[in-house]
Amino acid sequence: MSLENPLRLVLVGAGSMGRAWRDTIEAAPGVELVGIADIHEPTAQAAADALGRPVPVGTDAVALASATGARAVVDATVPEAHHPVTTAALFAGLDVLGEKPVAETVAQALSLAAASEATGRLFMVSQSRRWNPQLFALRAMAEDLGSIGTLTTEFFRAPRFGGFRDEMAHPLLVDMAIHAFDSARFLLGAEPVSAYCEAYNPPWSWYAGAAAAVATFEMEGGIRYAYTGSWCSPGAETSWNGVWRVSGEKGSARWDGDHDPVLDADGPGVARPGSPYEGIEGALLVFTDALRTGDPPMGEVHENVLSLAMVEAAVRSADTGERVRLDDVLAAAHAEALRTETHPDVRDALASWPSVREVLTAAG
Ligand SMILES: NC(=O)c1ccc[n+]([C@@H]2O[C@H](COP(=O)([O-])OP(=O)(O)OC[C@H]3O[C@@H](n4cnc5c(N)ncnc54)[C@H](O)[C@@H]3O)[C@@H](O)[C@H]2O)c1
Repeated sequence: MSLENPLRLVLVGAGSMGRAWRDTIEAAPGVELVGIADIHEPTAQAAADALGRPVPVGTDAVALASATGARAVVDATVPEAHHPVTTAALFAGLDVLGEKPVAETVAQALSLAAASEATGRLFMVSQSRRWNPQLFALRAMAEDLGSIGTLTTEFFRAPRFGGFRDEMAHPLLVDMAIHAFDSARFLLGAEPVSAYCEAYNPPWSWYAGAAAAVATFEMEGGIRYAYTGSWCSPGAETSWNGVWRVSGEKGSARWDGDHDPVLDADGPGVARPGSPYEGIEGALLVFTDALRTGDPPMGEVHENVLSLAMVEAAVRSADTGERVRLDDVLAAAHAEALRTETHPDVRDALASWPSVREVLTAAG
């Protein structure tokens, strides 16, 4: 695929993550930030002013892209805006790199996957914690452990955010645990089968909703992934990536989330090349490479949806007390997407899927 150089980008959503994206795009080779949009125009203007060069601003990413000749959009809006903003961009012929989560619900995520199919545009989700060279190294170690029995993550921190997280029903599961769930899928190369989760709020918590959770997932091949986490846990805090253990037939591998992982196994591990990518800079590089080569990147919307489905399954299990099958989450989301879809091309694409799981995992 031919691609102009530099790739002209519009950033939409100029909040705290949007400003991180602004600086990342500005510093990256091969891309040019040509406009900043935010539903609150003064926010876009303030983000543009900090660049020290004139950059057009507006409230609508598609209009701004058309006025500036942009070819792609970086969507760093709030989760509830991901579906409308990204759908409009895809139908305007723009490729999209979007912040996690892919959308607010799995039904909306399926609609976005179908919109990408209907338009032939790339929609990649930037799940920034997956682009971590230490996680890639842990994955390489896991490959040396033979069959895997158990994967665990402990995440214990005590941030005082203020704002929307303090009011959410499931702040830990919905806003944070998706990073760990996504990394677990990547580490194991295995998809989720079912979830059982208890979510609760310790008596001293400063959050209104469930700031702590214990979730167990059955993954393909019978592997169990156990996640324990709390966002109101002062003392001995873990890294933001959490603390990981992979327990396999031939040994174990551990990672504290901040330093190189450690292998404790029979025989020497096989050295493998590390990852050249890191964080949102890495996601941006992968996105532009994918546009140049036409090859689907890791994080392409279909591949990402099951990470959000793990969140939705865990929340449903916590709310009902039942073990939840991922296929039931996908089936309910697909039915809802078909019921609520307003775009005929997207509805046709959704209706053509023989099996949601097969469509989501076909590229993996
Ligand atoms: N990868 C990470 O580690 C990480 C960290 C923090 C946030 N995030 C994600 O980044 C996204 C943004 O989070 P944030 O903390 O920057 O939020 P934020 O509230 O600081 O900023 C969001 C911005 O989007 C704008 N906006 C809302 N609806 C819009 C619309 N329809 N069109 C244009 N602009 C719109 C708002 O005005 C606001 O300026 C979220 O999806 C969040 O989950 C990711």
